[in-house]
Amino acid sequence: MKDKSILLGVTGGIAAYKSAVLCRQFIRAGARVQVVMSEAACEFISPLTLETLSGQPALVQMFNRNRSGVPHIEVADAADLFVIAPATADFLARTAVGRASDLISAVTLAYRGPVLAAPAMNTNMWEHPATRRNLETLRTTCDWRFVAPGSGDLACGWTGPGRMAEPIEIFEAAEAMLEGDLCGRTVLVTAGPTVEDIDPVRFISNRSSGRMGYAIANMAAQRGATVVLVTGPTALSPPQVSELVQVRSALEMRAAVMDRVKDCDAVIMVAAVADYRPEKMSEHKLKKGPGEKERAIKLVRNPDILEELSKLPNTKQQPVRVGFALETEHLATAAREKLKMKKAHIIVANLATSGFGGTDTEALIIDDAGREEPTGSLSKTSLANRLLDLLIARDWQAD
Ligand SMILES: Cc1cc2nc3c(=O)[nH]c(=O)nc-3n(C[C@H](O)[C@H](O)[C@H](O)COP(=O)(O)O)c2cc1C
Repeated sequence: MKDKSILLGVTGGIAAYKSAVLCRQFIRAGARVQVVMSEAACEFISPLTLETLSGQPALVQMFNRNRSGVPHIEVADAADLFVIAPATADFLARTAVGRASDLISAVTLAYRGPVLAAPAMNTNMWEHPATRRNLETLRTTCDWRFVAPGSGDLACGWTGPGRMAEPIEIFEAAEAMLEGDLCGRTVLVTAGPTVEDIDPVRFISNRSSGRMGYAIANMAAQRGATVVLVTGPTALSPPQVSELVQVRSALEMRAAVMDRVKDCDAVIMVAAVADYRPEKMSEHKLKKGPGEKERAIKLVRNPDILEELSKLPNTKQQPVRVGFALETEHLATAAREKLKMKKAHIIVANLATSGFGGTDTEALIIDDAGREEPTGSLSKTSLANRLLDLLIARDWQAD
């Protein structure tokens, strides 16, 4: 981040107040920050605040006779990374169709470097097909990266997805984009729960949200890796990865992993794979029998994908195998046992109470060299980065 030039775009959403914290984080890390704001953004945060924090005049107006030069081209040319936080629905719509109707849109159109946007809006606006289409256009045709919004209470009174990611998450994603330290590496990540069908309408599953796996896939991609994400069903928008494989059951997940593992430098198994599945899925919906008081469903063991990976024939280079362990007690003992039993290289263990479904977590990372690192409380993005740093530190060596 040191000596990098960040162009910080701020558009008119309630989350604009968080852009001050983000600006401060960039400055603290040694970056130069040039702020460009939409006129609507100035309704939510004073340009003076961002000017004071960045030490540069914030640009808002396209036409300003007191200024010489062509500012929208000059700032676009000077930046190493363009971060837009928050990015409104309207800004995304304008840029997806290539408008240059105000200064920030013109800067966006003139800019040729990497872009990271943190959308923030009401849940209905976020889920609207027009917004989805605009995001997809920017993602696929302009190679924009996004820090997906979180779910929770929104300022408008709604509860749901749309809340801007925290400044620290945006900062870390920006840092990763500038570093690109995973270029040339291929990482396979599994995420989410698996769903084991009982009949066409019933299933066994678990409460895994997929957030941790998605954070790892996202950060690995941001840092330049080729990422394959094999995911069970989740309610999250998937990160931008090289290959997204959507599966349902443990057996499907195993097949997807085994098909792709041979070219990977690391396999990070975050998915909460069901230990058991119904022996047989009923073709038709199961009905209650008259007077039936009990119903037993025979369950059979699912394969342990992480363990199976350790038994693969030794091809060129074995991928580093990372497992996640969610425990309700005796974290360290469980982690050590899992490392040994599954012949994993790294185990990240966390307590169910400290992160299941939330945005923050607390984990213990242990490895095959006997190192044990309690992480303390940190965001899932930070934990993702920590884990990726460990893979670099061991030079991607499996043995
Ligand atoms: C109180 C208030 C809060 C708003 N919050 C958001 C928001 O979080 N996200 C969004 O996309 N639009 C939001 N809007 C609507 C935008 O401000 C509006 O679409 C504006 O034209 C966006 O302009 P810009 O994209 O140039 O910044 C809000 C409007 C008001 C009045």
